[in-house]
Parts: sequence; structure tokens; C-alpha cells
Amino acid sequence: MEKKTIALASDHAGFPLKEALKKKLTEEGYAVADAGCDSAESCDYPVYAEKGCRLVLEGKADLCVLCCGTGVGMSIAANKIRGIRAACCSDVFSARYTRLHNDANVLCLGARVVGEGLAWELVTAFVTSGFEGGKHARRVGLIADLENRE
Ligand code: RB5
Repeated sequence: MEKKTIALASDHAGFPLKEALKKKLTEEGYAVADAGCDSAESCDYPVYAEKGCRLVLEGKADLCVLCCGTGVGMSIAANKIRGIRAACCSDVFSARYTRLHNDANVLCLGARVVGEGLAWELVTAFVTSGFEGGKHARRVGLIADLENRE
């Protein structure tokens, strides 16, 4: 089965983690779409949250991983974008179940929270898990309804 294309984006705080994940994903045969940033120079995470999320919404990537210092700023920004379901995770169970139950399309990681080893476990759980559908599809539909009423 063809491996997924994973969009990556980060701010300066998440830059080293993004680069490490890019290397690992590529080694594992995934295609990577890198939406920046391109250095550890200070920059604004909402800008890169949007760039990474757009790649998913435009069909250029299957899933996206966003890295900032905590993962929280990226997740708040990403969840403002219609059609994005972003989950900030630092445990493998949540990273897996947010795909199974929430059909999350974006994983947010805190480079100052998790080390590279755990980050890779989180990414692996996220990109190898699929949405279960059924009653969970109804609930994800209700999230879309919330979005549409705003
Ligand atoms: C940058 O210092 C930091 O605020 C940012 O990476 C992120 O953690 C925000 O949520």
C-alpha cells in the first residue's frame, strides 16, 4: 500500500523537531510536504499552522504534523480553520485514538514537551491509524455543524 503524504510545519521552537521528523518519515518511505519554517529564527506559529493545514485541505497531503514549543498554540490556530481537526498530544494512546474516533487530520506536538523519541512514537501512532467511522462519524459531523453555525 502506498504510504501517505505528511505535511509538516513548525515555528522556530518546533523547527529542530520538524527537521528530525522529516528525516524519519522520509527514511520510512513517507512523502513529506514541508510548509516551513526554514530556520530557528523567531517566527509566528499561526502563519505556519495555516500553511501546513492548507496542504491537507488542498489535497496535497493526507495528514499534517505541526510543531511549536508546546503544541498548544499550533492546535488553537489550526482549529480555527474550517475542516481542520487538530489534536495536541503527548501520549501515544491519544495520538492513536484521535485518528480512530475524531478523524483528526492534524497532530500538534510540543518540542519543549516531548523528546524526539516520543515524538516519533506519536507520529507513528497518528499516521498508521485510521478513522473507525460509525457512531464516530455522527459525532465528527456534529463538530462540523458547530463549525458551520459559527
Ligand atoms: C514560542 O516561544 C512559543 O510561544 C510557541 O512555540 C508555542 O509554544 C506557542 O504555543
